[in-house]
Amino acid sequence: MPDYRALCVYNNEQGYHARIINRQTEPLTAGELLIEVHYSSLNYKDALAVTGKGKIIRNFPLVAGIDAAGYVVESKDPRFKTGAAVLVTGYQLSQTHDGGYTEYAKMPADWVVPLPEGLSLYEAMTLGTAGFTAGLAIARMEHNGQQPDAGPILISGASGGVGSVAISCFAALGYDVVALSGKASASAQYLRMLGASEVLDRHQLAIDARPLEKALWGGALDTVGGDVLAWLTRTVKPHGNIASCGLAGGAELNTTVMPFILRGVNLLGVDSAATEMSLRAQVWQRLAGDLKPACLDKMVAGVISLEHIPEYAEKLLAGQVQGRYVVEIK
Ligand SMILES: NC(=O)c1ccc[n+]([C@@H]2O[C@H](COP(=O)([O-])OP(=O)(O)OC[C@H]3O[C@@H](n4cnc5c(N)ncnc54)[C@H](OP(=O)(O)O)[C@@H]3O)[C@@H](O)[C@H]2O)c1
Repeated sequence: MPDYRALCVYNNEQGYHARIINRQTEPLTAGELLIEVHYSSLNYKDALAVTGKGKIIRNFPLVAGIDAAGYVVESKDPRFKTGAAVLVTGYQLSQTHDGGYTEYAKMPADWVVPLPEGLSLYEAMTLGTAGFTAGLAIARMEHNGQQPDAGPILISGASGGVGSVAISCFAALGYDVVALSGKASASAQYLRMLGASEVLDRHQLAIDARPLEKALWGGALDTVGGDVLAWLTRTVKPHGNIASCGLAGGAELNTTVMPFILRGVNLLGVDSAATEMSLRAQVWQRLAGDLKPACLDKMVAGVISLEHIPEYAEKLLAGQVQGRYVVEIK
């Protein structure tokens, strides 16, 4: 096996930095796979890890990247044959285990999902962790009784990765989707193309401090946190579900118990990294089936290479990105 390239993050006397290195593959142990990685993607968590703006990586140096899709080239697990198309997202990738920004990745087979029929490797990484999280949030909300006739679904951080996929998936399931965006005018056409019937400007929200406001939404998927999530607790209709996925706008949540005890509103946590394998595989099957966005290709903001990741990570954290960056590796 020749040397291979990987984007590795260091935190040493030269400071916190990411650079491309050459490595050699090491022998596999029982239960491991060697994957030739063809595509990865750029997620919010990747941007935090690569720039050092979030405490994501625990062991340095470490290959970054929470997503990877490719082919098995060597297997020490009977469930996976050489040549199988696979994907892996989350778990300990880019935290304590080398991640997906690499030409070859050694992975525990227990973390690996066979690529579902109906998705290419490229499409799987267009979705990536962002798309998986949107699918998981929908599964959580449906499990908790969410129905299209309960009212519109509000999606915050709408033009981002999770938001874009969520709009498309909810619209495909027959929900009326309202997009809340910080770039409402620049992204309105894009958000409507994905399936939003209405686009609200986050900067125009009249956020007040009353414990309950007029109930507007049948449910919500929130990627922003902070004031937006607090506002959602006050404006979701009785018995509606709010899937809390992210903190792009803040980690605080200042609200009261009133929405929960007077309206029966449900706040559902979404943790994509630690999702157990049977649910994980089910969600990926749905992303290749009833949830597969009709305009997945239009969500691709760009296809970048390993070299470009640090530069695009900064853009992503500045909230300037619409849709998803796919990382082409092989
Ligand atoms: N729980 C999980 O398992 C899980 C999985 C994936 C992602 N996440 C989290 O979900 C969030 C979104 O992830 P992503 O991959 O979709 O990121 P992304 O592509 O960067 O999208 C984030 C979006 O949030 C909005 N935003 C950015 N800065 C903001 C700010 N200061 N205040 C309010 N809104 C802001 C922007 O959309 P608009 O301009 O349209 O408002 C931005 O496009 C992140 O916090 C991420 O860590 C969690």
